[in-house]
Amino acid sequence: MHDLQGKELEARRKEVFKQMKENSIAIFFSGVSKVSSEDEYLPFCVNKNFFYLTNIEQEHSALMMIKAIGEKSTYLFVDPYDELKEKWTGKRISFESAGLISDVKNVYSTENFETMVKLALTDDNNHYGQIDCVYLDLSSPEQKLKDNFFMNDFAMKLKVDHPNKEIVDIYPSLRDLRMIKSPLEVQNITKAIEATNSGISYVLRHLKSGMAEHVFADYFEMYGRLHDRTKLAFSTIVAAGKNATCLHYPTQNDVTKDSDLVLFDLGYRHKQYCADISRTFPISGKFVGLQAKVYEAVLTTNKAVIKYAKPGLLLKDLQDFAIETLKNECLRLGLMTEDDDIRNYYYHGVSHHLGLDTHDVAVKDRPLQIGNVITVEPGLYFAKFGIGVRIEDNVLITEDGAMNLSKNIVKEMDEIERLMASRNV
Ligand code: GLY
Ligand code: MN
Ligand code: MN
Repeated sequence: MHDLQGKELEARRKEVFKQMKENSIAIFFSGVSKVSSEDEYLPFCVNKNFFYLTNIEQEHSALMMIKAIGEKSTYLFVDPYDELKEKWTGKRISFESAGLISDVKNVYSTENFETMVKLALTDDNNHYGQIDCVYLDLSSPEQKLKDNFFMNDFAMKLKVDHPNKEIVDIYPSLRDLRMIKSPLEVQNITKAIEATNSGISYVLRHLKSGMAEHVFADYFEMYGRLHDRTKLAFSTIVAAGKNATCLHYPTQNDVTKDSDLVLFDLGYRHKQYCADISRTFPISGKFVGLQAKVYEAVLTTNKAVIKYAKPGLLLKDLQDFAIETLKNECLRLGLMTEDDDIRNYYYHGVSHHLGLDTHDVAVKDRPLQIGNVITVEPGLYFAKFGIGVRIEDNVLITEDGAMNLSKNIVKEMDEIERLMASRNV
């Protein structure tokens, strides 16, 4: 393969090589599944930095990049064919397809991994000369899983076996690369958003009072599975009425009432890239009384922040602007008085980076750059009125400002009401 994806993988690895010192080696692992019981594992989540450089989603794989004087070599390691394993847990990729998916020519069995590392780290091994420095992905979010044996144990073993080698964390380089999305990455995020839009439309067609909150999440998840988009970007949040004032409301067992607003925060993945969308709908099909006022305040803020966002601003600038706009809107609409603190009704951030992770890797106090993809997600949460509203879009930062990638997902009050009037309930 040397299509667009192949070229892009090559360019990403080239960037990593550029950041490495001469006479160094970088090693990345895909990770392993966590055990959930004696013969079962939790669903596997690939290490995103490994995936970013290889496009490989299979566990127990590794990438080794060697930068020796005058020579750069890249090796991919995947598990060998194992008939019995395949009988239990299905097909694994062959060396040939691993090479095609990753655009790495040198694909070896993981059985050779330790020997090859040892060879590379043996001083004056005649092939690579002397390697002085080993780069490992030491502080990516996945590292918080302390039982991810590959990365942590490997680093410790390395210190014992090769005490004279410098070990350097390569995570910051990968984070910086991942913060700027390529057109291909933006396309993948957009596809995840489009699929999420279809999932939301499907849920809306079934939205009626008397159903427990989790049923709406079940509909969203089932639609995804039926359309080959099996993976969620994160656990679906569905919260009705006052429950929506709990940001990550977990239980979802309450039965919805006609008078409820229901807050949805959900998204699918496409090729690992995430959508992260929030919308709030009236179960009755009509926004009434205070619901309309709270919704208007949040919608005005959502649109204002999207208009405001541009290269050079900090996420904190967007947050300050959101707080100010929400405050003014709440005062204008009589939702609070001058004595009230808006932070009692808005208690989260307005933006985070989005990509291979829903809360994607980022330097939070770095000014926005062209190619960043972020969320814009103001909300208002009035427990005393039993109303929580969040409206979350996903935007690309361009030289002209923010381009709303989720603009096709219904959010104007009259559009929502029209759509809900056409439900078959
Ligand atoms: N879905 C989590 C968030 O919006 O940040
Ligand atoms: Mn969200
Ligand atoms: Mn979000």
